[in-house]
Amino acid sequence: MTTWDQRFSQPGYKYGTEPNRFLVEQESRLPPGSRVLLPGDGEGRNSVWLAERGHQVLAVDNSQVGLDKALALASTRGVTITTLNVDLAAWTPPAATCSGVVLIYVHLPGAIRTEAHRRLARSLAPGGWLILESFHPRQLGYQSGGPRDADMLCDLAGVRADFSPLLEEVLAWEGEVVLDEGEGHRGPAFVTRYVGRMPAA
Ligand SMILES: C[S@@+](CC[C@H](N)C(=O)[O-])C[C@H]1O[C@@H](n2cnc3c(N)ncnc32)[C@H](O)[C@@H]1O
Repeated sequence: MTTWDQRFSQPGYKYGTEPNRFLVEQESRLPPGSRVLLPGDGEGRNSVWLAERGHQVLAVDNSQVGLDKALALASTRGVTITTLNVDLAAWTPPAATCSGVVLIYVHLPGAIRTEAHRRLARSLAPGGWLILESFHPRQLGYQSGGPRDADMLCDLAGVRADFSPLLEEVLAWEGEVVLDEGEGHRGPAFVTRYVGRMPAA
């Protein structure tokens, strides 16, 4: 059982059942019926919402408890999602198969982050979109959630360095927001946001 299995074993949905606000703002970039990969999707609030919007989603996580709750949420909402239990430290998705990769609050250790990010980005077909929101190292000065370990946090320079060999930068920002995402993310927070696009063939 992972640490996340233990967290997700608590009643309720740690980050709520509504989608992340930045994802909602950016979703219109995805063509209708897109194949979308959601690494670190947790309890499914984002994958289920994208499925409700008509996309074909693959929710990937190494917490089976989280994936089971995602499937339960999908069933409640009357939509279908596909789940896969893998460790992002080692998993390589099929190349050039997705129109979207959605990384929302997926914090990986620095030693594996860059390569994992690039493996995920390579799953984008030409013209595909990568949408990311994560906590910034300055989040250590806030009490609204996220890992208490600077090695797991990524500023904009780090995100840019990870994706710039592969993607065209479309949006990049770091700054303060106010979160209201379940009990897990609530209050003022400092985040990194990024949207990148796989160049057209
Ligand atoms: C903060 S939660 C965010 C969940 C979801 N993206 C959301 O915004 O509601 C981080 C998620 O990343 C997953 N995760 C962390 N490290 C992982 C790894 N190495 N492989 C697969 N999943 C991982 C955890 O299991 C957890 O579900």
